[in-house]
Amino acid sequence: MTGYRPGVCHSVRVGDWAELNRRNWDERAGPHAASVEYAVERYATEPEFISDVVRFDLPRLGDIRGLRGVHLQCHIGTDTVSLSRLGARMTGLDFSTTALEQARALAQRAGADVEFVHAEVYDAVDLLGAGRFDLVFTGIGALGWLPDIRRWARVVADLLAPDGRLFIREGHPVLWALDSPRPDGLLALEYPYFESAEPTIFDEPGTYVETTHEFTQTVTAEWNHGLGEIVTAVLDAGLRLTMLVEHDSVPWEALPTQMDRLPSGEYRVRDRPERLPHSYTLQAVK
Ligand SMILES: C[S@@+](CC[C@H](N)C(=O)[O-])C[C@H]1O[C@@H](n2cnc3c(N)ncnc32)[C@H](O)[C@@H]1O
Repeated sequence: MTGYRPGVCHSVRVGDWAELNRRNWDERAGPHAASVEYAVERYATEPEFISDVVRFDLPRLGDIRGLRGVHLQCHIGTDTVSLSRLGARMTGLDFSTTALEQARALAQRAGADVEFVHAEVYDAVDLLGAGRFDLVFTGIGALGWLPDIRRWARVVADLLAPDGRLFIREGHPVLWALDSPRPDGLLALEYPYFESAEPTIFDEPGTYVETTHEFTQTVTAEWNHGLGEIVTAVLDAGLRLTMLVEHDSVPWEALPTQMDRLPSGEYRVRDRPERLPHSYTLQAVK
C-alpha cells in the first residue's frame, strides 16, 4: 500500500503472485489483531462497537438488517463483525488462514454469528454458490491484490441475488498511484493508474499499523485499477451503478507526515487536500 512502501521493485513470475501475497497477509494478521488501530478488544467489551470504516459509510449503507451479506477479503473480520452488528447475516471470505483464525476468534469474543470461509476471491462462487447474497461488501485495500478487475466484477455479479447490491469503499486509484511521501512534499504519480498485465512488485518492511513485529514476508505483487476500469467492469458484469462518491479522506495514514487525522478518525492530506481524491464509495445493483 502507498505510504510505507519504499517502492523497491524486483522481478517475480506472475504465476507466483497469489502465494507471495498470501504469505505476506498470513504474517500481517497477528500484528494487525494486536494493534491499537484494529481495536479488536473493543468488539468484545462494547456490544455496540463498530469499525470506523463501516461507521463512515452508515448513511450510504442504509438499513441492512436481515440481508444475506458476504464480505470479500474480510481480513481479520472487524468490518464483517460490524456489518453483522448492523443486522446483516454475514459471511467473510479471505485466502489467509491466519487472518481467518483471528476473524473467528474476534467474532466469538464479540458474540457475532458470522461464517468465515477460506478461498481465493476468484473461487468465491464455486465455494459459496451463485445468487446467494443480497449484499457484497469489500474494499479498503482489497482490489489492489487482484490482477483482473473484470473477472472480479463477474464474481461479484454471480454472487448476488437479483436486486442484490455491491458496496465498495476503497482507496482511490489516484492515491494508489502516488509515490511515498517525498521530502519536498510533492504529490507525485509514480506507479500505474491503469490496470497492467504485470504486477508492481513492492518490498516493504512494515505494514499500515504501528507494530514492533519484524516482518520476513515483505515482497508483494499489486495491481491498480483506474476508476473508469472499475465502473466499466461493474457495468459490463450486468450491474447498474447507483452511487459513486469520491471522498477527501481515507481510513488509514496513507501518506505519513503529509496527512492530518480528522475528528472522524480518517486521514486527509494537509496541504491543499482538494487536489487529491483520497477514496471512494461505489454502489451497484444487480
Ligand atoms: C487490507 S485487507 C482488506 C480488508 C479490510 N479492509 C480490513 O482492513 O480489514 C486485504 C485482505 O485481502 C486478502 N486477500 C488478498 N488477496 C486475496 C485473494 N486473491 N483472495 C482472497 N483474499 C485475498 C488478504 O488476505 C487480506 O486479508
